[in-house]
Amino acid sequence: MQYKSIAVDGPSGAGKSTMAKRLAAALGYLYVDTGAIYRTLGLYALRSGAAPTDPSAVTALLPQVSIRMDYADDGLQHMYLGDEDVTEAIRKPEVSVAASQVSAIPAVRDFLLDMQRDMARRNNVIMDGRDIGTVVLPNADVKIFLTATPEDRARRRLAELLERGNEVDFDTVLADIIARDERDTKRSAAPLRQAEDALLVDTTGNSLEESFDALLRTIRERLE
Ligand code: DC
Repeated sequence: MQYKSIAVDGPSGAGKSTMAKRLAAALGYLYVDTGAIYRTLGLYALRSGAAPTDPSAVTALLPQVSIRMDYADDGLQHMYLGDEDVTEAIRKPEVSVAASQVSAIPAVRDFLLDMQRDMARRNNVIMDGRDIGTVVLPNADVKIFLTATPEDRARRRLAELLERGNEVDFDTVLADIIARDERDTKRSAAPLRQAEDALLVDTTGNSLEESFDALLRTIRERLE
């Protein structure tokens, strides 16, 4: 059977995961959060004492790291580092930074590519990340590039972090978003960019709710 795939790319805090999760539920597809995979490796680097910015130190960790993705009974994606469920631990702000840093290393991207493609070989997927439409699934059936201004994204990310009990303020979150945008778009290995055939969706000023219905309609049309 030929499975369908939908790629959702865009910068941090654009609402990719909320949107992709809801679209996946509406379509009956598996939601794959690829950022969680980079976050798990970022967490491993931090715990191992390897500087996430040091390509040779991080590359040396790859043969020994065990990263696994699994779906719990509730349908949610869980990440495992060895036997430990790190689904919550990878959401800490310091892990966001480490994930962005390790993701700029070409050997890391090669190492994690197959895990991502394998999910799409075995399921109908809606996959979110930075390079899904350009590198991971260049033949995806539908490609979406979701974006919003840095300020809008920082507001969304701040609400998320506060809800998880993190003590952060708006200016710190905005500075982190701007620094991550810079790193994710300027790196030479699979930088964040809109695929030529991707549909651009700018959610600035809109609630994700408002964008959702229109996007679901468009996706259904394109899938036919
Ligand atoms: O989507 P996220 O914020 O959880 O991703 C964390 C970091 O991982 C992000 O700053 C860039 C990197 N990433 C990537 O380079 N490629 C992907 N497909 C997904 C995430």
